[in-house]
Amino acid sequence: MIYRKKDFPVSKIRRFLEPGPIVLVSSAWKGERNIMTMGWHMVMGFEPSLIGCYIWDENHSFDMIRKSKECVINIPTKDLAATVVSIGNSSGRDIDKFAEFRLTAERAAAVGAPLIHECYANFECKLVDSSLINKYNLFVLEVVKAHAATSPRFPKTIHYRGDGVFMISGENTSRFRAKFKPENL
Ligand SMILES: Cc1cc2nc3c(=O)[nH]c(=O)nc-3n(C[C@H](O)[C@H](O)[C@H](O)COP(=O)(O)O)c2cc1C
Repeated sequence: MIYRKKDFPVSKIRRFLEPGPIVLVSSAWKGERNIMTMGWHMVMGFEPSLIGCYIWDENHSFDMIRKSKECVINIPTKDLAATVVSIGNSSGRDIDKFAEFRLTAERAAAVGAPLIHECYANFECKLVDSSLINKYNLFVLEVVKAHAATSPRFPKTIHYRGDGVFMISGENTSRFRAKFKPENL
């Protein structure tokens, strides 16, 4: 494919780099529980299983996660898209988002933060490096326990393309699988 291109605003290139699913981050601190919507995350290793997360310091979740040093990354699917936006539009400073959005808080195995029962998968995380929080709002988390549904195999996850557009995951192909080096699978 030959593409015709023009200058693109540097501040908007994230639209092309955000294929990872939008997630819901749940936290708990001093008897309070909360949820935030998050798109800016990246895998930083698989053994240990590390995830880097950008959490804005104006978010109520910021202090809850920094102080408790724990959270849960929950993977919502298409049926929760409207709730995902509502959670991102509100703050736990003002409301209990579990009650407001009728989500079920489930006890986690290894962290104090609750799992969101209605999500396809839940990853219990510990904050393992806080050295980049002050400079970049970057939390380096280790997934210490994971729960995932067994069906469907490919859930309809929600991906943000900016400007209010979601892509719902769809087509899958294994056509190129044979070309992969085994360690890249
Ligand atoms: C689609 C979407 C993606 C978002 N991604 C992030 C993100 O990566 N990091 C972040 O700090 N806030 C992100 N937000 C904003 C937070 O979800 C929002 O500020 C939230 O209300 C914070 O809740 P809290 O104050 O209860 O912590 C996103 C919001 C939406 C709708």
